[in-house]
Amino acid sequence: MVKITFQPVSAQKPEKDNDEDKIVIPQAHEHLTLPVRSKRPFPTGLFCLAFGLVIFMLGLIVASVYVYRHYFISQMPEDSLFHCRVVYEDSVFAPLRGRQELEENVGIYLEDNYEQISVPVPHFGGSDPADIIHDFHRGLTAYYDIALDKCYITELNTTLVMPPRSLWELLINVKRGTYLPQTYIIHEEMVVTGRVRSLRSLGPYIHRLCFSKETYRLRRRSHRRVERRETQKCHSIRHFENTFVVETQICDRM
Ligand SMILES: *[C@@H]1O[C@H](CO)[C@@H](O)[C@H](O)[C@H]1NC(C)=O
Repeated sequence: MVKITFQPVSAQKPEKDNDEDKIVIPQAHEHLTLPVRSKRPFPTGLFCLAFGLVIFMLGLIVASVYVYRHYFISQMPEDSLFHCRVVYEDSVFAPLRGRQELEENVGIYLEDNYEQISVPVPHFGGSDPADIIHDFHRGLTAYYDIALDKCYITELNTTLVMPPRSLWELLINVKRGTYLPQTYIIHEEMVVTGRVRSLRSLGPYIHRLCFSKETYRLRRRSHRRVERRETQKCHSIRHFENTFVVETQICDRM
């Protein structure tokens, strides 16, 4: 009780002293000018501050979104990995089989101008798992057949394989939520023409893929010689690096 009554009295005293000191020296000037400034400019100043803060925050958000997107988009082309699925129908060779699905991993290296494709073991057989490199700088394609542990080199066919930038643009759109449109399959036949002894001339990426593996050169086979297939052993690899699927059949002498 005693403490409560004493505190207001002691608190009021210095306030009164301060008021008296201020009033005595400037007197009329302070009484006229202070109320005008404190009542009107104070709320507008607060509005300005709040408005400025809102503008600043919006600017910060817009700037950070822009910087993030710019950074994200410009970083992606350096080294892009995609996991892709495509549904296709083989209306010529397997019309009754209906829809089939193919899955693969695609690595696109824009700076080095090559594509690397990994085809896993397919769910329903008929095709070998493989690692494929399309080297646009050298104009070469290498198929590493994982089941056979053999490498096959051929000329890059640019009508079948999309260049890295175009393939990247195609797959970026797929990654953003749309599937590759349902497509068809093309069959090509390759025949082994001979052994490759030196991998050095094939560039660093194919060299790395085929290093210490039996490596053969391939030639595209014209359809006139199809009858001879019985005396040869053929394996096929299904892959896609375009809007359609390609089955590359590789035949070797038994
Ligand atoms: C590339 O593939 C297409 C379609 O299969 C074929 O018509 C063309 O002859 C091939 N080009 C070369 C150089 O092998």
